[in-house]
Amino acid sequence: MVKKLYIKTYGCQMNVYDSERMAEALGDRYEPTDRPDDADMILLNTCHIREKAAEKVYSELGRFKGLKAAKPDLKIGVAGCVAQAEGAEIVRRQPMVDLVVGPQSYHRLPELEARAGAKTPAIDTDFPEEDKFAHLARRPKAARGPTAFLTVQEGCDKFCAFCVVPYTRGAEVSRPAETVLAEARDLVERGVREITLLGQNVNAYHGHEGGLAGLIRALAGIDGLARIRFTTSHPNDMDEALIAAHGDCEKLMPYLHLPVQSGSDRILKAMNRKHRAEEYLRLVERLRAARPDLLLSGDFIVGFPGETEADFADTMALVEAVGYGQSYSFKYSPRPGTPAAEREQVDEDVKDERLQRLQALLNRQQEAAQAAMVGREVSVLFEKPGRLPGQMGGKSEYLHAVHVHAPGVARGEIRRVRITESASHSLGGVLVP
Ligand code: 5AD
Ligand code: SF4
Repeated sequence: MVKKLYIKTYGCQMNVYDSERMAEALGDRYEPTDRPDDADMILLNTCHIREKAAEKVYSELGRFKGLKAAKPDLKIGVAGCVAQAEGAEIVRRQPMVDLVVGPQSYHRLPELEARAGAKTPAIDTDFPEEDKFAHLARRPKAARGPTAFLTVQEGCDKFCAFCVVPYTRGAEVSRPAETVLAEARDLVERGVREITLLGQNVNAYHGHEGGLAGLIRALAGIDGLARIRFTTSHPNDMDEALIAAHGDCEKLMPYLHLPVQSGSDRILKAMNRKHRAEEYLRLVERLRAARPDLLLSGDFIVGFPGETEADFADTMALVEAVGYGQSYSFKYSPRPGTPAAEREQVDEDVKDERLQRLQALLNRQQEAAQAAMVGREVSVLFEKPGRLPGQMGGKSEYLHAVHVHAPGVARGEIRRVRITESASHSLGGVLVP
């Protein structure tokens, strides 16, 4: 009998991709379910990037206690970055957990699953020599939606002083271009029209001649693949070739997530970001020279240890100078084992208040960027029916959600749309005849 697998995914897009691949790795033995009470195996694919991640996992596990008591065969697994960071500690604190698997070992999931449920829990948080992607079950030939993620690079050697990634995901590794291209061709054959290349430090990709730009140009040669995106990038790895690709590679979409974290040189230094605010602003200028309509998105941390009101003012000034179309902002959260966690912390009230001011500014910019689309023509990749009859929803090249009355237009079609209105989180428009 085919068993049922419930996966709950936390955190970033790489985890979304990993969850998909884990489900595939288990092959035909499990089919997905979206109900934990229906499952034979529950997997939590966890994130460790901010606050109390481990505590959240423990309380989530607590909620499954009743299920496990009612169904002793139920297997419970913890995957992802909390699994990597906590390891056997998870089973010590929550003995009902059968399986713990780190992000670099999930190709061993089938073997761990077979062992799970025995007296001793199955734990694997190694950083194995072998390439997990090479050992993972191939994606089955099932049809896919129009958009897909594809992880091309993992890990990070940057060691920003606030970040756990270099510890949980390990050193930077790039997948060879041939395997990435083969996977992309396979996705396109199954209906995918837009691929987002993923990596913790994706623009440091070195699996192809010419780095990420070289890979993007090779992908652009795949017929049927219409759109390419990538995330997340570090400013220092934005090389000339990648900037140029934004100008002349038509399939590369004019949207770039380029986190800066802070606008203060003092804080950037303390964060070990290895660039100054001015260099980031010059980089943005060069990118916009290559692609004037580029929409930028960013990540910001407020209340990093040592951040003064003047440092925060520098962040606000940088945001004003750049003008972001989309942003993510966070209060600094000390992560055990990272250098900044040991430093003197900024008051929680101060962090709250700064975050509010920053988010107000970022929201204004986001609304302005959306409103500026009204009256313009964009192209929309349609992904799913909207709420109203005959309505379809999709994304513009700038990653704005767009709703259009488009009867007869199918998922996966790309059509020109004139934007007529801007609502709170999406745009409305009409098909251009
Ligand atoms: N505290 C707050 N935000 C963090 N980020 C990473 N680590 C921390 C932390 N310790 C944010 C950064 C990063 C994004 C993915 O999460 O802004 O770019
Ligand atoms: Fe973390 Fe990104 Fe810095 Fe790497 S570059 S340490 S993933 S914030």
